[in-house]
Amino acid sequence: MSVRRLAEENVQPQRFAFNEGNASWAQATINKYPKGREQSAVIPLLMRAQEQDGWVTKAAIESIADMLSMPYIRVLEVATFYTQFQLKPVGTRAHVQVCGTTPCMLRGSEELISLCKQRIHSQPLTPNAAGTLSWEEVECQGACVNAPMVMIFKDTFEDLTVERLEQIIDSFEAGKGVDIVPGPQIERVFSAPIGGLTTLTEEPKPQRNQVTEAPVPVAEADGASVPPTNAGRAKPDAPEADPTVKTPVTAKGEAAANTKKTGAETKDAGPVDTPEGGPKTDLTAGAKTPSPETK
Ligand code: FES
Repeated sequence: MSVRRLAEENVQPQRFAFNEGNASWAQATINKYPKGREQSAVIPLLMRAQEQDGWVTKAAIESIADMLSMPYIRVLEVATFYTQFQLKPVGTRAHVQVCGTTPCMLRGSEELISLCKQRIHSQPLTPNAAGTLSWEEVECQGACVNAPMVMIFKDTFEDLTVERLEQIIDSFEAGKGVDIVPGPQIERVFSAPIGGLTTLTEEPKPQRNQVTEAPVPVAEADGASVPPTNAGRAKPDAPEADPTVKTPVTAKGEAAANTKKTGAETKDAGPVDTPEGGPKTDLTAGAKTPSPETK
């Protein structure tokens, strides 16, 4: 990554002014923003200045700062931050920005840089003899999945090989850059897997949740309950299905919950089924608990 500084004074023009068409476009762009927020137009104005003159000059930075009532340093910060802004003259037909960040480096960007050094100029940001081509290494351009890649002006060219980049450079040098379709340079649709889908290849089918409801015991004619079948067992995650959770059992083998009833409660409750489902008996028969009437 190169240090981004303004070009030397001897190449800087004295003045900058948008041409008539760009001046009215710039004013319309500024008017899109709310009152007091006009400074938000700084990036589009810098980009338009670059498109007009080929690079962003110091005079353009100062002129745009005046238009937006911004300190010069604020506009300079924006212009020097984004590698999309060229701060010195670059190739008139192509400025090749090669991504050298890790994914692209692992996929061969160093070979692409070697080609640029050999084909364009040994030094970055230095136009070739004809002034038509230049190159530089930049950081990630956001197309890592199709690494390695280069950006030429506003277009990206991805899934590159050295041979393919050389063809692209030749086309731009011949003034036929518009004939190259940007994006992946192999049989790939955008960033889809090479050769087609490798996952999620089945046709999706709608599925319904199969929730097992606990069955309601059906009372038979004689009052005995029909025990539930396995199909109606509680869900495995229900607490009562956990084999480690056991119901406390008294010495007589009765469920603790049932034995906590008082005599009056059991009397009110009436006959109770035996665990075996046998004949109903009155558990309070013979109990010593006095009834309210005998007090
Ligand atoms: Fe090269 Fe992201 S690492 S585009």
